[in-house]
Amino acid sequence: MPDAARKSFYLTTPIYYVNDAPHIGHAYTTVAADVITRWHRQRQENVWFLTGTDEHGQKVMRTAEANGVSPQEWADRLVEGSWKPVLQTIDAINDDFIRTTQPRHTERVQAFIQDLHDKGEIYAGSYEGPYCVGCEEYKLPGELIDGTGEYEGLKLCPIHGRPVEMLSEQNYFFRMSAYTERLLALYEEHPEFVQPASARNEVLAFVRGGLQDLSISRNTFDWGVPIPWDTTHVLYVWFDALLNYATAVGLGSDDPQEKARFASTWPADVHLVGKDILRFHAVIWPAMLMAAGLPLPTTVFAHGWLLVGGEKMSKSKLTGIAPSQIIDHFGSDAFRYYFLRAIAFGQDGSFSWEDLSARYHAELANGFGNLASRVAAMVGKYYGGALPAAGEATDAERALEQVAAKAVADAEAAIDRLALQDAINAVWTLVDATNVYITEQEPWKVAKLPEEQAPDGGAVQGGRLATVLVTAAEALRSLAVLLHPVTPKAADALWESLGAEAPLGALALQPVDGAGRFGTLPAGTTITKGASLFPRLEDPVVA
Ligand code: MSP
Repeated sequence: MPDAARKSFYLTTPIYYVNDAPHIGHAYTTVAADVITRWHRQRQENVWFLTGTDEHGQKVMRTAEANGVSPQEWADRLVEGSWKPVLQTIDAINDDFIRTTQPRHTERVQAFIQDLHDKGEIYAGSYEGPYCVGCEEYKLPGELIDGTGEYEGLKLCPIHGRPVEMLSEQNYFFRMSAYTERLLALYEEHPEFVQPASARNEVLAFVRGGLQDLSISRNTFDWGVPIPWDTTHVLYVWFDALLNYATAVGLGSDDPQEKARFASTWPADVHLVGKDILRFHAVIWPAMLMAAGLPLPTTVFAHGWLLVGGEKMSKSKLTGIAPSQIIDHFGSDAFRYYFLRAIAFGQDGSFSWEDLSARYHAELANGFGNLASRVAAMVGKYYGGALPAAGEATDAERALEQVAAKAVADAEAAIDRLALQDAINAVWTLVDATNVYITEQEPWKVAKLPEEQAPDGGAVQGGRLATVLVTAAEALRSLAVLLHPVTPKAADALWESLGAEAPLGALALQPVDGAGRFGTLPAGTTITKGASLFPRLEDPVVA
């Protein structure tokens, strides 16, 4: 059971802009976050999983204007109609959902910047430069690309492929340049702070080039958190947004419960981000925390992009696919499994319906689902659905148990490296080995041997057939525990089919570290063959 005194494993997703509805790129981050946190929950740790929405800034304001409603109305509509429901669609179980327009956030943000101001970390100045509203970021001239076609003669943002806007404003500045050396020391002393290594190298090169002070306010529009000492300015949307990770768990609150939450949660263990927003998290965010004298998060992990036609999938380029388009056909488990198994976490990956369908059928339907139904069917056929008492184990049984133990150890280590693909690969060694075990042991042939016949017409207890089926059932039990974080619905259905709850308790309470030990399901456990975990499907009709 979780120990209340232990610090929670705290993981966050980026907070998503509410300018548009979620596509599978956003869902990818949230699914990865959900799998990692579910894995830690399965280890019986305390866990805190935060996600939410980023609602201020020009991008959201302009979208609301274009739709003829106030930014707050627009945000409310998108959050309630799209961003919260998608969490259910993908089967994510976050502990909290922060919206940057909530008073709990805006009040704490104001306290934070007032404190930085009082500490002399903020000064008034002016800034002129190219700004990308898509990124909500001032760009350096060297980062821009030359436009062609309709954008001939213009400078474009390399991420959004859209023209930047020249801005010239009176702003407040954060003395970020003063943190250059401390940041470099952080990356040096804590190589785990930015992961994977490619992301760390990018950040190192950027910071070694020297940091400028950061413009942190805008005064040409008012959709943002007012600067407390000068309410003609609103806070720069990224400064506001990054703070969500700390305000959501109680930073700056006087409420005793909130203070306790902060003490048991902060600092974050992992900020999961897409590589597009790595620098904000690996440079600006730690500098802000250093300036405030707060502990730093342990790891910022940047994953890659889902690509369509070789480019980052995005709604603005009309390449966005809604998660429900996939999930309505394949189900949430398949969605969760597919993106984490098919793409090395940290690298870019292309989505294709053909690849998804092929993996669904080969790995989930034939590899895993079919295994579960075959074993349940044989226990039904030969033992009337009651797990028999196993006989003497042979090398084959011991070898399979070793595969299970290694799968657990390898998957555990991979999760700690946030190598989600490796973790699922490790679990799949047990799926594959169990299929091979059954093929080689041929229980349907064993069942015909004279010594396997019981006087009542069924099969004998304690014989070879019983040993094989019990061993296969134990492997399935291990798989239910190991796959619970990845494919929770199928794992729950398997637990039910194995009748495991009565003797062993709820699936959520089975610790990962013991999952590979066989010999846990008692003789007599009721095994039922439920519906297919992953039924075969027609190819989806893609619009
Ligand atoms: N609001 C900021 C983040 C603030 S965090 C303090 C933002 N929001 S966003 O809506 O644009 O979503 C960003 C995140 O969504 C990316 O960092 C990434 O995690 C995910 N993705 C959006 N498109 C994606 C792909 N095409 N592929 C993979 N992930 C994608 O930036």
